[in-house]
Amino acid sequence: MNAPLKPVADTAPTFDEVILGRRSIRGFRREPVPKALIKEILELAMRAPSSMNTQPWNFYVVAGGALDRIRAGNTERNLAGVPHSREFRTGQAFAGPHRERQIGVAKQLFSAMGIAREDTAARQDWVLRGFRQFDAPVCVIVTYDKVLADSDDTAFDCGAVATALVNAAWSRGLGAVINSQGIMQSPVVREHAGIADDQVIMKSIALGWPDETFPANAVVSERKSVDEATVFVGFDD
Ligand SMILES: Cc1cc2nc3c(=O)[nH]c(=O)nc-3n(C[C@H](O)[C@H](O)[C@H](O)COP(=O)(O)O)c2cc1C
Repeated sequence: MNAPLKPVADTAPTFDEVILGRRSIRGFRREPVPKALIKEILELAMRAPSSMNTQPWNFYVVAGGALDRIRAGNTERNLAGVPHSREFRTGQAFAGPHRERQIGVAKQLFSAMGIAREDTAARQDWVLRGFRQFDAPVCVIVTYDKVLADSDDTAFDCGAVATALVNAAWSRGLGAVINSQGIMQSPVVREHAGIADDQVIMKSIALGWPDETFPANAVVSERKSVDEATVFVGFDD
């Protein structure tokens, strides 16, 4: 049995401060992140609910030379035009409101970074940055037990734990960005992170101390309204 988690003292930000303050961080300071702090964050994140409490998730926390080898392998293969080999399904290309939102956040990020629409070299640099895990000192590879691969609950549960993880990180002053870019060349990640054969790679999360001077870190992405997203049924007012 795990010991119950004790909330940190008075310095802890409130729930609202974490939820409203968190944003994806794509520029990091060089300092390493202590392993004990990462464990603390994982312990918080793993309080996430899961289907029948199956907890299908596992984590490979990669830093140092192993992470550098993943960055190099990802960059090399992407520049060489090696087709992506993700281990998760992607649907059809975004259209309509989904495409608009995708473009919306890209515009916000490019504008913050001063990357012009026609500047293909700068845009390519930005994409490569993602393949390098945004040069973060740590990358958390989220995997799940292969035996549960056929259930959509598995992806749902991995999303729950990943969201809890980025919020837990934020509550400790760390920044993170959940991303698919870091695991698009899954053989590279498998080799250098030593992913076990009974695990499927779901996502990566770049993690580290936010670089406050990195312009894209200030971007607050937009959200559709509660009214757009929600149908209330059976209410009097
Ligand atoms: C499943 C998933 C995949 C993502 N993949 C990427 C990615 O490959 N590159 C990236 O820069 N951001 C990625 N993101 C971050 C999203 O762009 C970001 O969460 C979204 O724009 C909302 O912004 P916020 O996190 O700052 O609130 C991903 C997020 C999720 C949840």
